[in-house]
Amino acid sequence: MRWVRALLKNASLAGAPKYIEHFSKFSPSPLSMKQFLDFASGGSCGAGARRAWLRLQLLQSVRSIVGETDLQKDELEGEPGLEPSTAVYVQSLLDIMEFLDKDPEDHHTLSQFTEALITIRNRHNDVVPTMAQGVLEYKDTYGDDPVSNQNVQYFLDRFYLSRISIRMLINQHTLIFDGSTNPAHPKHIGSIDPNCNVSEVVKDAYDMAKLLCDKYYMASPDLEIQEINASNPRQPILMVYVPSHLYHMLFELFKNAMRATVESHESSLVLPPIKVMLALGEEDLSIKMSDRGGGVPLRKIERLFSYMYSTAPTPQPGTGGTPLAGFGYGLPISRLYAKYFQGDLQLFSMEGFGTDAVIYLK
Ligand SMILES: Nc1ncnc2c1ncn2[C@@H]1O[C@H](COP(=O)(O)OP(=O)(O)OP(=O)(O)O)[C@@H](O)[C@H]1O
Ligand SMILES: [Mg+2]
Repeated sequence: MRWVRALLKNASLAGAPKYIEHFSKFSPSPLSMKQFLDFASGGSCGAGARRAWLRLQLLQSVRSIVGETDLQKDELEGEPGLEPSTAVYVQSLLDIMEFLDKDPEDHHTLSQFTEALITIRNRHNDVVPTMAQGVLEYKDTYGDDPVSNQNVQYFLDRFYLSRISIRMLINQHTLIFDGSTNPAHPKHIGSIDPNCNVSEVVKDAYDMAKLLCDKYYMASPDLEIQEINASNPRQPILMVYVPSHLYHMLFELFKNAMRATVESHESSLVLPPIKVMLALGEEDLSIKMSDRGGGVPLRKIERLFSYMYSTAPTPQPGTGGTPLAGFGYGLPISRLYAKYFQGDLQLFSMEGFGTDAVIYLK
């Protein structure tokens, strides 16, 4: 990490406006759905002010990742998987900073900025597998004692929350300000679907997890969905949400539930179905996924959210195909997605029977 510090000192912060330092002091603070919608509709601000606001939000998120990596330098020193990831963030920070004092109203600047954001998004595509591999190597070298585990957990939670925030901001900027609508989803506001049909997303995530599960085990449990819309019992449950986030959480939960179900029923002819219950009340939309995969003892529940914990064999890089499990990332990252919009993800298990995973969304 020494070179990251040097790079920060010599390059990124040299000549930068003083307030860049100021932004690095903030934690990545999730924005509310309302802020994103106000941003898209304009509210009382002009487009220039909104673009400048988004630019600063983005800068703050990237800067906080770089600052975080720098803070953790001693704990993560020499960690092979983390260094390339940090390098791409430093590069992206430099790219965004180039635009800071340019006029956000200027059309040429705007198109250059959109181009730069697309480059940044592509540059960061491999960050998750690279980081995951880095953490596996870290675990092999240093073990996963409680202290290292806590360091890695703290660092990665903040790192991935910033990453979710950066991708959300980039998507909103590129989809809203390049003037075109998303051809596949003309009614979406950037990546937000104002009428996201929750049970449709549940079915899509189930289908994709089923494909993987069939590939690995040549069997997969069925799905049963029940929907309770408290105030409008005849209507499907719709919500304002980012479908790709919801899909991600459900896909991870389905993979876990399927793996547990199949592995705990090796000698049975029939697999118990996975049951998903959706309930929409006045405040919360809750999605409960229940499996009969044998459950987990209470003592281990919090450990399941550790980036260093997985009971599946470690996937080998370059062996092709998406693994059904093995990085230990499914649960912690899904919980961050839920928390990003002020929700949560919790597990309730009965050892010897099965597990309920509940996603709470506002
Ligand atoms: N529904 C479940 N029933 C029983 N055990 C579970 C369940 N969900 C998760 N687990 C346990 O928690 C561990 C961590 O789950 P997590 O999804 O975070 O990682 P993973 O499935 O091992 O790997 P991946 O990153 O590929 O998802 C799993 O390895 C498994 O042992
Ligand atoms: Mg998993």
